[in-house]
Amino acid sequence: MRHSILLIISGSIAAYKSLDLIRRLQEHDIAVRCILTKGGAQFITPLSVASLSNNPVYEELFSLKDEAEMGHIRLSREADLVVVAPASADLIAKMANGQTDDLASATLLAANKKILVAPAMNTQMWQHPATQRNLSHIREDGAIIIEPGAGLLACGETGSGRMAEVETILAAISKHLYTGALHGTKALVTSGPTYEAIDPVRFIGNHSSGKQGHAIAAALARHGANVTLISGPTALPDPKGVTVKHITSAEEMLAACEAALPCDIAVCAAAVADWKVSEPTARKLKKAKDGEAPELRLIENPDILAHIAQHPKDRPNLVIGFAAETENVLENAAAKLKRKACDWIVANDVSEGKAFNATENSVTLVTAKSQQNWPLQSKEAIAEQLVQNIITHRSAK
Ligand code: PMT
Repeated sequence: MRHSILLIISGSIAAYKSLDLIRRLQEHDIAVRCILTKGGAQFITPLSVASLSNNPVYEELFSLKDEAEMGHIRLSREADLVVVAPASADLIAKMANGQTDDLASATLLAANKKILVAPAMNTQMWQHPATQRNLSHIREDGAIIIEPGAGLLACGETGSGRMAEVETILAAISKHLYTGALHGTKALVTSGPTYEAIDPVRFIGNHSSGKQGHAIAAALARHGANVTLISGPTALPDPKGVTVKHITSAEEMLAACEAALPCDIAVCAAAVADWKVSEPTARKLKKAKDGEAPELRLIENPDILAHIAQHPKDRPNLVIGFAAETENVLENAAAKLKRKACDWIVANDVSEGKAFNATENSVTLVTAKSQQNWPLQSKEAIAEQLVQNIITHRSAK
């Protein structure tokens, strides 16, 4: 079920950040409908909002076209959550006094959903007693304020009143959008590459960026799971609300997974090296005088997914692996599902530079009974869809 947000953009220079908020919401497969106030339209165009949100932008109260299509009453009915970002001092004053002289204020008064408010204004306006009175009124009425930050403001002054960062607004939306269906469950996710040392300077690695594993960890946490993410070396920030253990080699990843058991759900998205150098040297290998290149002998690494799926004592009740294939994708994935004895496999074609480090991917969810092809979409959307499947699976038991 795709969540949807009604985003009300009012008159503040911070309106430009709302374009990024729309983009990030779309990446998380959240539908966005927007109301742009007259003030907001001074800072960003209806066209930019419409093209980013893939929906018409609503501006006028009682415009026959809009009312016919989606009047101010229905705008909140069709949304799971209403977000006002940026919220100008003027719109907050209208909310506090129940004014309805434009589409935004009329919709807010008629709204029957939770309302998140991200104020943005000059410091003097923010600190003015009238603004603070209005804020306490809308808080009493149930609005949830996403506190502005402090820093250099567009007007050149420095102080509080700067709209919260997009990631902070996203986290607040996630907190109120997702019902915490996985509350009380413990999840383990592996992500990113492993580096297998050749000598203190060199290693065998791969192109995994960790984007997919980190997105899955974030999605599980969004839905209330207690998540331990075991990550190989990546450039990504630790996902919010997730316990992250950073490791380097497959052996270290195995030890960290073992320490994270028992758990209810394990998702192994990491690109774990199948082999390691049998005897990595303590000193940096030097080029031989005769130009002879060194020979590396490789030995197998432990298979972490198989170890978890066949764990004698602490097998999680749902173990999900990935399969990175360059040919016969589904056959190889089905064979891996059986060989490793996991419950689901997310199969992806990684030939011709696909999947690794990409922002989008297309995968097939393979179980013993079915194969579901998921079209090309952001890795966040894949993560959300996988978690929705996990929630459905758990509620069906
Ligand atoms: O990280 P990104 O840049 O976002 O890219 C995502 C991805 C391409 C890495 C991801 O979608 C993916 O395919 N991950 C699995 C990569 C991989 O190692 O696949 P594999 O077919 O070699 O391994 C099969 C499964 O066994 C995987 O769940 C893997 O985590 C696990 N495995 C493999 C080897 C090993 N020694 N231990 C393991 O646990």
